[in-house]
Amino acid sequence: MHAEIVVLPGDGIGPEVTAAAVEVLRAVARRYHHRFTLHEHLIGGAAIDATGEALPEATLAACRRADAVLLGAVGGPKWSDPKAPVRPEQGLLALRKGLGLYANLRPVQPHAATLGASPIKPHLLAGVDLLVVRELTGGIYFGDKQRSADRASDLCEYSVAEIERVVRRACALARGRRGQVVSVDKANVLETSRLWRETATRVAREEFPDVTLEHQLVDSMAMHLIAKPRAFDVIVTENMFGDILTDEASMLAGSLGLLPSASLGEGKVGLYEPIHGSAPDIAGRGIANPCGTILSAALLLRHSLGLADEAACVEQAVAGALERGVLSADLAPEGRAATTAEVTAAVLAQLELPCQVAELRD
Ligand code: NAD
Ligand code: IPM
Ligand code: MN
Repeated sequence: MHAEIVVLPGDGIGPEVTAAAVEVLRAVARRYHHRFTLHEHLIGGAAIDATGEALPEATLAACRRADAVLLGAVGGPKWSDPKAPVRPEQGLLALRKGLGLYANLRPVQPHAATLGASPIKPHLLAGVDLLVVRELTGGIYFGDKQRSADRASDLCEYSVAEIERVVRRACALARGRRGQVVSVDKANVLETSRLWRETATRVAREEFPDVTLEHQLVDSMAMHLIAKPRAFDVIVTENMFGDILTDEASMLAGSLGLLPSASLGEGKVGLYEPIHGSAPDIAGRGIANPCGTILSAALLLRHSLGLADEAACVEQAVAGALERGVLSADLAPEGRAATTAEVTAAVLAQLELPCQVAELRD
């Protein structure tokens, strides 16, 4: 097949991890006879430096035309002055909103090879397979913001329609899994959460009688997530709760550098990015873990290009590299860490091996 993919490296380790994922996409194209046309564009701090804007019009236009977008990360100390008129993160939020990507899928499946890297006891982690569906274009991120000399406010708003569509997406995804959804809110305090709970209950009852829906308050959920992670299948929640809970959930996998994401809407284009940020503390040293971005490329193959077998082969290649002990500094015991290039080379080598899932046109 032929696909147009926009690549947005962004800032910090963004260019390092997207370069790795692009190598993997090129290898998939070669091996399975596809043609991927890759176009690089500016976003975030890099775009502010070049154009004064965090999301230049040319970038958004290219993303709208593409089949899929692969993004590294945005932000960093250079652009973090609280008084700065424009911030890199605004570019990412505007891109998600501009493309209508309201459902952010963040799967968490710890690899056997990295259980030791997690601060959580290995027996709690075996068999963990959960999917967080984070609402991505509403809530406090997008409400009215006010600032005066001695006061500031951020409005948290949700409409019924915004809640319905993301809950629907979560329930539909649960049907292909174990059929269990936990909706996370703060309904004991927040009005938006009471509307969320009411709406989720109705959507599940009327449209998904075969799916089990339970509710959990976000504070106790933060505890349950590490105390009994195997208990969860699909977790659906609002924008900010989902942001926080997934960085926490990354510790089930052993590192923030391992988790991928897919952001989907009703349109054809999807956005794929690791859940981590620009990691200014390690940027430019060639030691970032590229796996979260490579696994995001796998999600891109599956969700935007319909290449489920190729996606599974990439996931298997990452698992294979980890099993061979090729671990970046965030995962490796002292002194035995692989560089970004070494991890990428190990994944590419695994991709050359016969792929178990394949009934592929080899
Ligand atoms: P971060 O995710 O960038 O880093 C947190 C910690 O995890 C750091 O110690 C970092 O070194 C480590 N880490 C993250 N990714 C890693 C990887 N691939 N390999 C190895 N280690 C990794 O979060 P932060 O430090 O709170 O934020 C830094 C900047 O990134 C901020 O400007 C923030 O706004 C931005 N950010 C961007 C995105 C995005 O573009 N999607 C996401 C989160 C944060
Ligand atoms: C993420 C990030 C972003 C978010 C920031 C950079 C706007 O933390 O993708 O998880 O909060 O959504
Ligand atoms: Mn985040």
